Amino acid sequence: MNQKNQRVVLSSRPEEEATSECFSILEEELPDLKPGEIRVANQYLSVDAAIRTMLRGEGFHMQMNIGDTIFAGGVGRIVESEVDGWEVGRAVRGPLGAQSYATLPSEHLELVEESNLPLSVNLGVLGGSTGVTAWIGVKRVARPKPGDIFVVSAAAGAVGSVAGQIAKKEGAIVIGIAGGERKTNHLLQDLGFDHAIDYKSQNVRACLSSLAPQGVNVFFDNVGGEILDAVLDNLALRSRVIICGAVSQYNNMDDVRGPSSYLKLAERQSVMEGFAYFHYPESIETAEQELRAWLLEGSIKLAEEILDGVEKFPEALGFMFSGGNLGKLLVKVR
Ligand SMILES: NC(=O)c1ccc[n+]([C@@H]2O[C@H](COP(=O)([O-])OP(=O)(O)OC[C@H]3O[C@@H](n4cnc5c(N)ncnc54)[C@H](OP(=O)(O)O)[C@@H]3O)[C@@H](O)[C@H]2O)c1
Repeated sequence: MNQKNQRVVLSSRPEEEATSECFSILEEELPDLKPGEIRVANQYLSVDAAIRTMLRGEGFHMQMNIGDTIFAGGVGRIVESEVDGWEVGRAVRGPLGAQSYATLPSEHLELVEESNLPLSVNLGVLGGSTGVTAWIGVKRVARPKPGDIFVVSAAAGAVGSVAGQIAKKEGAIVIGIAGGERKTNHLLQDLGFDHAIDYKSQNVRACLSSLAPQGVNVFFDNVGGEILDAVLDNLALRSRVIICGAVSQYNNMDDVRGPSSYLKLAERQSVMEGFAYFHYPESIETAEQELRAWLLEGSIKLAEEILDGVEKFPEALGFMFSGGNLGKLLVKVR
């Protein structure tokens, strides 16, 4: 192949916001394939909130060093292969990185089932860090009961949109917290949430006490910080607070602010429980099967926000942390 690889690398660690100066775009010759390796032409890259935590070398799951290709899950097609059973043209998914071609051993990848669904759903509703996280978080960890008041934060984002829809399927009354009218309208009109709170223009504490006077039974938290405190102040007796993530803290991971209202857990005889989707490996296949069936019957939706070009990856991260994205944020490579 005579194409070059374009990759986005970490050139300096961000202090607070990850601005474009923290990244460089390199163009390099593609290396020769070694035995056991395949080459993938990347098509879509998943922009995940957790990437921000890796840029300072303090991520809770993974770290990145200066000069590393920015971590990104992705989906693409094999263009060269030294591995039997991994034919050119097959779609694959895995840690492809923020680059135009990935060259890696096949054991780091999985073959993707071809269907009428667009390839990008393998990072969205069917993606480990998106739909599967939401499914495991709701069905294995939060376990809402019919009639429960289920509150989700970053509700119009990738994980939050799917988590709220699954909680509806479980019979819960779902309240989404998101930033701005475009997002709250989406939750109510497109995703069937029961209520939506715009935390940028409304008082979350006051809205919750009027929408849920008996209190919140389950809180699926993606944001942390002040929103977590506002929900803790509105818990029902024997409620469950599920920590999926805390995006409000990721720009400053060496000064994470815990909830000041945590004593409400004692007062309301409640529990707080964190999880990562890969703590439940036995549930991943079941989650994917059910999510796929819902997608095919059209009973679950996830909007996509797509930036075009691998060089847009740094911009996409900034976009996410300024709350720009509705649904799943992706970078389209080709
Ligand atoms: N536990 C797991 O296994 C697992 C796996 C994947 C993801 N996660 C977590 O799930 C959460 C959502 O991740 P995602 O990739 O799906 O991202 P996302 O929700 O699509 O995007 C992040 C959203 O967070 C909100 N946000 C950004 N900065 C904020 C701030 N300072 N304060 C309040 N809200 C802010 C923005 O929405 P608004 O406009 O509404 O503010 C933004 O759109 C993250 O906490 C992530 O770490 C956990």
